[in-house]
Amino acid sequence: MEMILTDEQKMLQQMAKDFAQKELAPKAAELDEKEIFPSEAVKKMAELGLMGITTPVELGGAGMDHISYVLALEEISAACASTAVIMSVNNSLYCSPIVKFGTAAQKEKHVKPFAAGQKLGAYALSEPGTGSDAANQQTTAVKKGNKYVLNGTKNFITNGPHADAFIVFAMTDKEKRHKGISAFIVEKDCKGFSVGKKEHKLGIRASSTSSIILDNCEVSEENCLGGIGEGFKVAMWTLDGGRIGIATQALGIARAAFEVAAKYSMEREAFGKPICDFEGVQWKIADMALRIDASRLLIHRAAWMKDKNMPHSKEAAMAKLFASETATFVTKEAVQILGGYGYCKDYPVERYFRDAKITEIYEGTSEIQRLVIAKNALKEITK
Ligand code: CAA
Repeated sequence: MEMILTDEQKMLQQMAKDFAQKELAPKAAELDEKEIFPSEAVKKMAELGLMGITTPVELGGAGMDHISYVLALEEISAACASTAVIMSVNNSLYCSPIVKFGTAAQKEKHVKPFAAGQKLGAYALSEPGTGSDAANQQTTAVKKGNKYVLNGTKNFITNGPHADAFIVFAMTDKEKRHKGISAFIVEKDCKGFSVGKKEHKLGIRASSTSSIILDNCEVSEENCLGGIGEGFKVAMWTLDGGRIGIATQALGIARAAFEVAAKYSMEREAFGKPICDFEGVQWKIADMALRIDASRLLIHRAAWMKDKNMPHSKEAAMAKLFASETATFVTKEAVQILGGYGYCKDYPVERYFRDAKITEIYEGTSEIQRLVIAKNALKEITK
């Protein structure tokens, strides 16, 4: 893949790697342990243009392609998976749909400062009783004059406690199921908006996740994104892009775990020789390396298709499914190769192991990815 990268893409990759290894990797364990949101790192990432990589320059972004985005995000993810999801959500789940579906005024107000990293965005689809079945939204939005009044609770919102604005999905017409869903840009200082319970998680503990509560929250009709009744399409289109981001986060975690485990296997001796000389370890190394490479190829294909404006729901789902299952596989094997050391906090692999699991869950579980892949594969066959 490296052979076909442009000089500009390689430069961004190197810049992201240097930044991630110097600024993120040394602090990742402590931030994880203490559940500290990496505010300083996010500020620095903004200065480097990493918070709006694919957002056009005139809207405050770096105006680069999605291959560049995944190259940079892999580096951030390999150093700190918590920081990576903050970046991924702001880029893919917040800026990207407003660039695609927003009015000129929405882009000016709700993209520019976010892509430039002065503000942080979030995406609010899930609810306490609605995860995989995203069309079953319980949050409502009722028109009152030139405003919509939103009521409901959104759950597991990445960046929740720190975000300045949220893309919130709500029912404007319950009878119509998914065709009655609309998207709204909700600012944190909106009347009736509050941040709910902060979650204490198994992994990505430095990223902040919370519920948000909409209690007669009043939003101007100008904040409707993509049109009334178009919200489900906005949500699904957005997740196609978001899944490329989470696949990349998984790839970065897997690569980092592989690097630690492979080096360890060359240094650690047992029965008079380095453990990498044993077939039992070599087979693990081979399977880990193979799956990591295959994940990267799937991710780059999906990113390339997105750049070409080609439909890529299936390819994004394949990338996310494969990369996230690779991340849990590789991190488990890494812990096994390090043995007792892998289980303790002296090495980072126990963190990678914990961080990997969420990539099989958020932005669509592995089961949902299989559903999306099957649906699209069957459609292609019958074309
Ligand atoms: N792009 C645009 N439109 C799409 C689409 C896509 N990728 N996929 C489906 N649609 C459209 C369809 O064309 C259809 O439109 P019409 O009725 O006009 O034909 C409509 O949406 C309904 O499609 P389906 O019948 O396929 O919808 P469904 O109800 O069966 O649901 C699903 C499909 C794949 C299961 C979907 O509900 C889904 O992706 N669920 C998982 C949700 C998810 O990933 N949640 C994670 C939330 S984000 C998060 O994790 C938090 C965070 O902060 C990181």
